[in-house]
Amino acid sequence: MTETVPADTGTGYGRKTPSYDARLAEVGPGTPMGELMRRYWHPIATSASLTPDAPHRTRVLGENLVVFRDGEGRPGVVFERCAHRGSSLFYGRIEQDGIRCCYHGWKFDTQGHCLEQALEPDLGRRRDAARQPWYPVEERYGLVFVYMGPPDRKPALPRYDALEPLDEGDRYYAEWPIPGLPPTGLLSDFSWLNLYDNSADPAHVTWLHSTHSGYQMQDTGTPTGLPESFFEPAIVQDGISFTRTEYGLKYDHLIRDKDENGSPRTRSFRTELQLPNVFGLPDYVKLATDERPDLILWVVPSDDTHHRLFFALRSSDPERLARFTLGIKQNGKDAWELTDEERQRFPGDGEAQSSQGAISMHSEETLATTDRGVVMLRRMLKSMIDDVEAGRDPLNVSMTEEPPRHLDFGIFTLPTEA
Ligand code: FES
Ligand SMILES: [Fe+2]
Repeated sequence: MTETVPADTGTGYGRKTPSYDARLAEVGPGTPMGELMRRYWHPIATSASLTPDAPHRTRVLGENLVVFRDGEGRPGVVFERCAHRGSSLFYGRIEQDGIRCCYHGWKFDTQGHCLEQALEPDLGRRRDAARQPWYPVEERYGLVFVYMGPPDRKPALPRYDALEPLDEGDRYYAEWPIPGLPPTGLLSDFSWLNLYDNSADPAHVTWLHSTHSGYQMQDTGTPTGLPESFFEPAIVQDGISFTRTEYGLKYDHLIRDKDENGSPRTRSFRTELQLPNVFGLPDYVKLATDERPDLILWVVPSDDTHHRLFFALRSSDPERLARFTLGIKQNGKDAWELTDEERQRFPGDGEAQSSQGAISMHSEETLATTDRGVVMLRRMLKSMIDDVEAGRDPLNVSMTEEPPRHLDFGIFTLPTEA
């Protein structure tokens, strides 16, 4: 009697321990990506809600920091741990010219100079030696930016022509309209790379945002929306293209429908990523076509397994903020209103990206044609890391003030195809 061996016996047993690409994902001091990220300015807080009332603690690139605005209105970023004996400056008190630690009353200004040591003779004869570690900040577009890298390589804070100059009646919006949110922003408990990969992955829009989320324009109360063709899987193979750009990469995702006269019309939904962590996003609700773009986003790593998404929006229309931040509804509800069962039936970006893991296990991925943008992005990030390690300035770093950068994103009417 011959023994029959089952043809397929399961593939789960005995696999190698999954791993992630630490070179891309880890952001602490001294790590390859951490040192790359430390060559750029990053948003750390929103300007409007950063008031002299109280300091705020946050974490950026794996470092515990306190961000505050002194009584003169100057923003400051210092280490959370007091240079004296380590109490948290989160419990400090804001004064006209600085922040005073709760424990023994040492006071530091926004650049970490120790102004007073309350209990020492003459308020501290050697207080100059007690400098609180600090980082430079700049305010622009409604955001407070911090630079955490080598002082001699500090670049100019980039400007964007999507955001300046302001048009008539415009103002900046940078705060998520979520009650009780601190100026340090909205924390998500998964890697910055899960989200930034997503920004180079237009194919997911065709699938996730139609088949699973429902068409993203449903129930948004807006007059226009992406046509069904945008959500047909065939568009992914012949209607999505990726291009390397001066600042990183961009994709074009074609929108095919008919104009007011019934003639076939092709538009492109275009997004550009400015590496290592910035992108421009078109108005995906109103589909503002052939208009000046108005929205820049920054994916800021908090640590290896957390990030914050900051944005600056230029608009004269208060509804524009609501469209952008609340535009995608599932089952007619905002994300935080959904039950677990609804999240199963109508998963969106939050479900897709957070469930990849605190850091996605790259060894377990099976990349395919739709991942061209993700592959390009990761390769470019790695070559930027190589540049830093070789002592060169990486992409998109300029030591001198430049004219506003033109990121190529928006929704554009393309010439009619023959
Ligand atoms: S620990 Fe801050 S003043 Fe002593
Ligand atoms: Fe999405």
